Amino acid sequence: MVITHLSLTNFRNYGRLELAIPAGTTLLHGDNAQGKTNLLEAIYYLATSRSPYSDHDSQLINWEAEQADEPVVVGRITAQLTSQTGSHQLEMRLIQERGRNGRNGQKSFRREALVNRQKVRLMDLLGNLRVVLFLPEDVQLITGPPSSRRRYMDITLCQIDPIYCRTLSHYNKTLEQRNALLRQLAEGSGSRDVLPIFTEKLVTQGSQIFARRAEFLTNLARQAQHIHYEALTDGQETIRLNYLPRLTERENGGQQDKSDLETTGEWLQKHQGDMKAIAAQFSQSLTDVQLTDIQRGTTSIGPHRDDWELTINGRKLSSYGSRGQQRSAVLALKLAEINWMEKRTGEKPILLLDEVVAEFDEKRRALLLAYVQQSTQALLTATDPGMFPPDFMQQVTSMTVTKGQIHPDRLVEL
Ligand SMILES: Nc1ncnc2c1ncn2[C@@H]1O[C@H](COP(=O)(O)OP(=O)(O)OP(=O)(O)O)[C@@H](O)[C@H]1O
Ligand SMILES: [Mg+2]
Repeated sequence: MVITHLSLTNFRNYGRLELAIPAGTTLLHGDNAQGKTNLLEAIYYLATSRSPYSDHDSQLINWEAEQADEPVVVGRITAQLTSQTGSHQLEMRLIQERGRNGRNGQKSFRREALVNRQKVRLMDLLGNLRVVLFLPEDVQLITGPPSSRRRYMDITLCQIDPIYCRTLSHYNKTLEQRNALLRQLAEGSGSRDVLPIFTEKLVTQGSQIFARRAEFLTNLARQAQHIHYEALTDGQETIRLNYLPRLTERENGGQQDKSDLETTGEWLQKHQGDMKAIAAQFSQSLTDVQLTDIQRGTTSIGPHRDDWELTINGRKLSSYGSRGQQRSAVLALKLAEINWMEKRTGEKPILLLDEVVAEFDEKRRALLLAYVQQSTQALLTATDPGMFPPDFMQQVTSMTVTKGQIHPDRLVEL
């Protein structure tokens, strides 16, 4: 899969950009604050409908355009894509509208997604473009909160599994409704008769999510373990990825024992194809905690509380791993993600690497660059292109990024 052309309008510091991108590896270099990261962010956003940096999508709109007195400001990312299913055009529009009172009016923000110039649901944009993104802050996947690990699973799975994505969206809606009812019940209002209706929906949708996450993590774990053991540590270290699903809750003074979660994770990975068993377990667990959930006014178990962890030689990486070990594990995980995406779709994803090559030692850098060179398309950023080996530089197309403009250093042959 390759992007042949990218257009940006009012996206971050790009007022207007028309960029032909060749297949193979492209190196975007330039001083700080010129737009290197912003370009990768644009492509990632088109693939996932999420920014890796900002939770407020309106911040993606160019601020000069946003501050102009126009009633409507549109940020736009458009990519021409060639994949095994043919040639497609994907577009995402970020639309900011001002109310009637001009500058002081209420602002409203919405998004529109288009495939081949036809408006589609946002969800249907996903899966057309598949990317794997490497960022220096990826190590937070190990050290950060469970929500960042759930986000990682969701974004990665949504790129290749439309059913997962749809089910997740339905699940979140059901969860919101169920929690609203639980809050009412906690306050003494609301009707308890309605609760089983929401619970049943939650069980059906939640079980699907558990099963798909279990399958995903099993595959990712297998690939990551292989890469880590064979290529990164010469058979010295065994990495394990444990799924910690919130499928059950055993009360231990309010705290759930980690080993309980691990056992549930193993059970789930064994039963990932048995939807009936998963649903029965989830349903039973929800019944077990129903009284406390009503008291607390919230749903305490379910995939919205899931987590996963990495261990090295049996020890938890977030607590015991050195910084370098954590980085290596994330590298193994990301390379596993590439392999897994290719296995699932029959096509290599586009690789986006933001300033990550400099972080690694020679061995890890060589492995990463080997993956880059085998990919059908990769975009790398660097402030200093001098850090890449000369034979690598000979094979890449290098471009300079300056103040929201990008120029190839040599004539690009497309
Ligand atoms: N909404 C926006 N509108 C206009 N400019 C923005 C917007 N958001 C961020 N910027 C600016 O875009 C510029 C380029 O940011 P970017 O992160 O792409 O730089 P970079 O080339 O990756 O630099 P570095 O080498 O420091 O990582 C920054 O000066 C940033 O402040
Ligand atoms: Mg940057």
